Amino acid sequence: MTETKTTSAPAEATLAGRTALITGGASGIGLACAKKLSAQGATVTVADLNAQLANEVAQSLGGKAWAVDLSDTKALEELSLDTDILINNAGVQRVAPIHEFDPEAWRLIHRLMLESPFLLIRAVLPGMYQRGYGRIINLSSVHGLRASPFKSAYVSAKHGLEGLSKVTALEGAEHGVTSNCVNPGYVRTALVEKQIADQAKLHGIAPAEVVEKIMLTEAAVKRLVEPEEVASLVAWLAQDEAGMVTGASYTMDGGWSAR
Ligand SMILES: NC(=O)c1ccc[n+]([C@@H]2O[C@H](COP(=O)([O-])OP(=O)(O)OC[C@H]3O[C@@H](n4cnc5c(N)ncnc54)[C@H](O)[C@@H]3O)[C@@H](O)[C@H]2O)c1
Repeated sequence: MTETKTTSAPAEATLAGRTALITGGASGIGLACAKKLSAQGATVTVADLNAQLANEVAQSLGGKAWAVDLSDTKALEELSLDTDILINNAGVQRVAPIHEFDPEAWRLIHRLMLESPFLLIRAVLPGMYQRGYGRIINLSSVHGLRASPFKSAYVSAKHGLEGLSKVTALEGAEHGVTSNCVNPGYVRTALVEKQIADQAKLHGIAPAEVVEKIMLTEAAVKRLVEPEEVASLVAWLAQDEAGMVTGASYTMDGGWSAR
């Protein structure tokens, strides 16, 4: 007897009716996420230090802008935020050996990339719990799972973010809230352009050599990730159909962490 298989078309990706708050949404990966989520019907709020860019992006997407310094964590303690999707993305990089690392630069990275995600998650969860739905997506990095020299602040903040994301997943599960990390290798953004220049200075080599000999040595696929590629994974995690995906870390590192 032949078995008849019924294949149903996958549900169309849609975020219609959803609201999304994207930190660092004015450029790079955050901007690509804002565009992608908006294209799928979400109303986006672009939270960024760069007020002018945040306004321009928000205006172009019919969303809202929130000009904010997310490293000023004291100011975030009393916040209450209403959003269905939170994308913790804002970040910076500082590169120096530990024995020369400026303590204030180290603290800035931890405030912006670990403490502020904690405070924003804290601010959005009550509303998500009330609605029985929420998506927290944390822009971690391959450096949330692996270390590189000279990046003590960044690597430790991202490793901390991994832990925060998992705890959020465990606490949020019974309320319909998922929390996941996305872990790209080097992505073609302003943050990486600056790192290329910094590393070139540190090692006394040409910028092109930094990409070839330092950044892409571990990756099997020898190219930078595009911001739009990261945004497509983020958008998938935001969908209803990703409801069973939580406490996970999704690498997009060209095979770096397969080693
Ligand atoms: N580019 C990469 O290779 C790469 C790889 C892995 C992970 N990431 C992570 O992705 C995220 C985004 O990186 P990107 O490459 O798009 O960077 P980017 O520099 O292009 O964008 C970062 C955005 O964050 C904003 N920002 C910086 N400090 C802020 C502050 N104090 N308050 C509010 N906003 C602030 C900036 O204004 C900017 O719009 C970061 O968390 C980064 O660690 C990047």
